[in-house]
Amino acid sequence: MSSEDAREKAPVEPFRVGLLGLGTVGAAFAGLLEERADEIERFNGRRPEICGVLTRTRGDFEEILAEADLLVELIGGIEPAREYLLTAMRSGKDVVSANKQLLSQHGEELFETARQHGVRLRFEAAVAGVVPVVRVLEESLSATPIERVHGIVNGTTNFILTEMDRGSSYAEALAEAQRRGFAEADPSDDVSGRDAAAKMAILARLAFGTPVHLNDVRYEGIEHLHATDLEYARELGLGLKLIGTAERRGGGLSVRVHPAFLYSGHPLASVSGTFNAVTVESEVITEITMSGPGAGGRQTAAAVLGDVVSVMTGGAQPPAAPLALPLIEDVESAFYLHFDVADRPGVLAAITQVLGEAGVSIKSVVQRGMGENARLVMVTHPVLQSSLRTAIDRVAAFEFVRSAPRAIRVIEEEFI
Ligand SMILES: NC(=O)c1ccc[n+]([C@@H]2O[C@H](COP(=O)([O-])OP(=O)(O)OC[C@H]3O[C@@H](n4cnc5c(N)ncnc54)[C@H](OP(=O)(O)O)[C@@H]3O)[C@@H](O)[C@H]2O)c1
Repeated sequence: MSSEDAREKAPVEPFRVGLLGLGTVGAAFAGLLEERADEIERFNGRRPEICGVLTRTRGDFEEILAEADLLVELIGGIEPAREYLLTAMRSGKDVVSANKQLLSQHGEELFETARQHGVRLRFEAAVAGVVPVVRVLEESLSATPIERVHGIVNGTTNFILTEMDRGSSYAEALAEAQRRGFAEADPSDDVSGRDAAAKMAILARLAFGTPVHLNDVRYEGIEHLHATDLEYARELGLGLKLIGTAERRGGGLSVRVHPAFLYSGHPLASVSGTFNAVTVESEVITEITMSGPGAGGRQTAAAVLGDVVSVMTGGAQPPAAPLALPLIEDVESAFYLHFDVADRPGVLAAITQVLGEAGVSIKSVVQRGMGENARLVMVTHPVLQSSLRTAIDRVAAFEFVRSAPRAIRVIEEEFI
């Protein structure tokens, strides 16, 4: 056999994956990698295999790092996941993570380390479940100037809102989500909007190249929504969703999460149950919407394995240097307003006067009920949220107002 033949026939080294964390996603990832290894080897030439596993009771990080071509971090939380990822990248290893908490709070440190050491940092599974939005933003749309990203990026809250739309109360819908394993025993990160805010910080960084920390994202949750808000939504031909938004506004960037009414024609209005979806808007592409399952061990593992294959095939690059759009907090929006009031002459006039003085102009008004239990529902034209807050606080102080007024944003813009 000539030395050339021997070289051709030499077995190709496996691609060694060090796995940190063997919980819901880690175990599913290990199983999926084994199932798919033949197929990945067939089109890629190298066979992925797990060279070591770290849990709280098993494995040694330094040994796994020394062996591995790439590390997959599926531990979650900040430490020790952060330290492990930084150490791996500093030793020249590519890394994959599904850790939205870490990326939304220490993203710049991680991106900068990846850039300095010329390694890949992949995190498709950290945002919007299985929906491949990270790759689409980084690769397919990398030449497209993006104006706005809207997302339903938390499956738990979308499930709760879907159940409320079918007539459940908030408490019943949350209990059902917990019974079916979609919500944690302590659901506060989901229902407060904080989980969605972490994902929007990561998405905003991708879409606009600007570092966005979780603390920069203003968020409101769904805990204060009432079944009646969804009833009105149906009547007005609107859907009610927890929407994350990252958009250019007047030379700056606004990133926020809040419940919002959407007109029924909006591509996110029909996304129901635990599904996630992201709409990317740009003058060039008009609008692209991607949707898919929001979570689940096996689904998340599929996104993680996709990242591993992308590194193996050289499809991913180290992160680009950041830009810096200023972050803007106070933005204009149309609002739905709900007031429980005593039904007396002059009530509507008093409220509209206060709103008018704050520059809030009313688009439509519906009045329901009689006596001490009347309800006024209004939809405003776009107004700065600070102006609206001032007006609402003044209305809340009227003695004829029976409970705290509710204000929910309405997304009514046509696509660009
Ligand atoms: N679950 C989902 O559907 C989902 C969806 C999208 C993204 N994610 C993300 O995926 C990541 C993993 O989530 P998961 O649900 O699989 O978590 P999990 O079930 O709690 O598993 C965590 C794993 O990490 C290990 N671990 C914890 N602390 C450790 C430490 N100090 N040192 C070494 N190992 C440690 C645990 O070890 P032990 O086995 O010894 O306890 C366990 O194997 C998180 O970042 C999460 O946000 C999850």
